[in-house]
Amino acid sequence: MMFSSRHPDTLKGLVDELGPLARVGTVAEAVEFGDVVMEAVPYTAMEQIGRDYGNTLAKKVLVIDVSNPIARRDGAGIVKWVDEHGGAGLATAKFLGAHTVRAFNAIGSAKLSTDAHRQGELVGVPIAGDDAHAMDIASSLIREMGFKPVVIGGLAMGKYLVPGTPLGGEHTADEIRQIATNLH
Ligand SMILES: NC(=O)c1ccc[n+]([C@@H]2O[C@H](COP(=O)([O-])OP(=O)(O)OC[C@H]3O[C@@H](n4cnc5c(N)ncnc54)[C@H](OP(=O)(O)O)[C@@H]3O)[C@@H](O)[C@H]2O)c1
Repeated sequence: MMFSSRHPDTLKGLVDELGPLARVGTVAEAVEFGDVVMEAVPYTAMEQIGRDYGNTLAKKVLVIDVSNPIARRDGAGIVKWVDEHGGAGLATAKFLGAHTVRAFNAIGSAKLSTDAHRQGELVGVPIAGDDAHAMDIASSLIREMGFKPVVIGGLAMGKYLVPGTPLGGEHTADEIRQIATNLH
């Protein structure tokens, strides 16, 4: 697995802790590396990432989009643009390609390690995407990570996978299915 940011040197400590299979690279190297890319960046970076790496990302079997447009951080203009383009799922796919799947958008990162492989009922991860193969791979990876994937619909439903919607926070798979029946 390769980890990256615009300042990859700052990630060396993190990667050293993760063991020999973890590596650090530039953003360009990380985008080229492997068949699956997971991106978690401020939404303001999305346009530049799409411009510089969109062609390569479009050829990946799966791009997991963790990013959220948040007005107080990214500006009201971006949030308005995203809304006008069908919400976070469809908007992100314009930059990152058709194999985009939204996942892990509204679970706090600090909770992920204790939530993974939780005793009793697993924590559900609602996912939204339009490409069936990409959704299958995302589901397998989420199961391996110790969560239960729950398909809530296509990329148009990705607009509900942001903090502050009823799907935000931790829910079981059944709870996610129940909440999602009231969203469209
Ligand atoms: N934090 C959470 O609990 C959480 C949960 C779910 C979803 N999210 C979403 O995930 C995204 C990231 O959140 P965060 O809290 O991790 O933010 P963050 O702490 O600001 O981290 C953003 C990361 O993106 C990198 N980055 C920024 N611009 C970039 C660019 N143009 N190209 C490549 N990398 C870039 C930054 O590194 P450099 O500055 O070194 O490039 C940094 O590693 C947000 O959209 C957020 O809404 C966060």
